[in-house]
Parts: sequence; C-alpha cells; structure tokens
Amino acid sequence: MTNDNKTDETLLRPYEADGIQELNNNLPTWWVGVLISTSIFAVVYMFYVHGMEGASIKKEYAESLLVKFAAQKSEGGEPTELNAMIGNKLSIDKGKEVFVANCAPCHGANGEGVIGPNLTDEFAVHGSKPDQIFATIMAGAVEKGMPPWGPVIGEQKARLVTAYIASLKGSNPANAKAPQGDHD
Ligand code: HEC
Repeated sequence: MTNDNKTDETLLRPYEADGIQELNNNLPTWWVGVLISTSIFAVVYMFYVHGMEGASIKKEYAESLLVKFAAQKSEGGEPTELNAMIGNKLSIDKGKEVFVANCAPCHGANGEGVIGPNLTDEFAVHGSKPDQIFATIMAGAVEKGMPPWGPVIGEQKARLVTAYIASLKGSNPANAKAPQGDHD
C-alpha cells in the first residue's frame, strides 16, 4: 500500500452499503450558498405572499383587471362586440343561463337583488351603461362582496350576461330590493 492509497482511505466515510463507499468531501461552497439562499427566499416569500394581505396574488389580479376595464371605460369606447349583443335575443337567453348559474344566489333569480343590488331598477352603484356593467362584472367590487368574474367566466360570458342584465331594466320583479346607488 502506498501513502496515496492510505490518504484515500481516510477520505472515505466509515460505512459501506453493498460494497459501495462514499468519499468524505466537503459540500461545495456554491452549493451550500444556493441551498441557504433559496431557503431564506422561501421563508420570506411565504410570509410576503401568503401572510400579508397586501401581497395577495388574487387581489393583485383583480386590481389589474380593474385598471384595464377602467381604462376601457374612460376611453369612452364601448366595445362593439358588447354593443352587438345588447337587445339581441340569442345573447340575452345565453346570458340568462350564465346569470342563473353564477349570479342568482346574490342578485336573485330575476335580478331583484338579495345580497347584491337589484339589477332591474334605475339605480346603480357602478353605472348602468353596458360597458360599465361589463367592467363591474369582470373586475367585481371585491371590498363590497362582488367577486371578480373575469377569471371565472371569461369575457365572452361576461358580455352575454351584460346583455341579459341590460334587458332586465324596468322588469319590476317581485320582492325587488330597495334601490342602491345613483339614479341613471
Ligand atoms: C357573492 C355574491 C355575489 C355574486 C355571486 C354576484 N354578485 Fe354581483 N354584486 C354583489 C354585491 C354585494 C354587489 C354590490 C357591490 C357594491 O355595492 O359595490 C354586486 C354588484 C353587482 C353589479 C353592480 C350593480 C350596481 O348597482 O352598480 C353588477 C352589474 C353585478 N353585481 C353583476 C353580477 C353578475 C353578472 C354576477 C354573476 C356572474 C354577479 N354579480 C354575482 C354580490 C354578488
């Protein structure tokens, strides 16, 4: 046995499994560095994203939608696709299906209002023009309990249900909830 071999042996860890042994090397510094920094990042990230209200991804998304649709509103350009659906029987019928499936629990089977406002009267908190209704549906009014529907039903169904809501105006359903918001 040479000296070199002896040195190798002291570098081996003192166990074996099926004749396989492991060298007793130090972990590379860069590797330890990556491990420690990703661990620290994970803890900071967890508290930042899951612990703090302000950094909620959902809220950020809702806000980005709000900005997008508010911009659309202020440009005064009512989306033509939406306009084409207003008063269109087929769109209104399809929009009613969307409404029954998603909105009726809070707005009533006929839009008369329950937790959410009456959608059939001449008053609205967020405006009663089709593009305003569409923007409210897409982005919601999170603080007041109206969920953002954009991520759930998408733009197309939001347009259809806008057409349905626009068709409800003046329908005077039973058990109508008292007006909320400003007169049209
Ligand atoms: C969890 C209950 C809930 C559901 C479900 C819900 N909404 Fe709402 N909605 C509300 C509340 C509460 C408000 C009032 C928000 C406010 O006062 O700012 C509201 C407001 C609105 C408004 C604005 C009314 C106004 O006066 O300006 C529209 C339009 C609307 N909702 C449409 C819908 C549509 C369409 C759906 C289904 C896709 C839906 N909502 C589902 C609770 C709900």
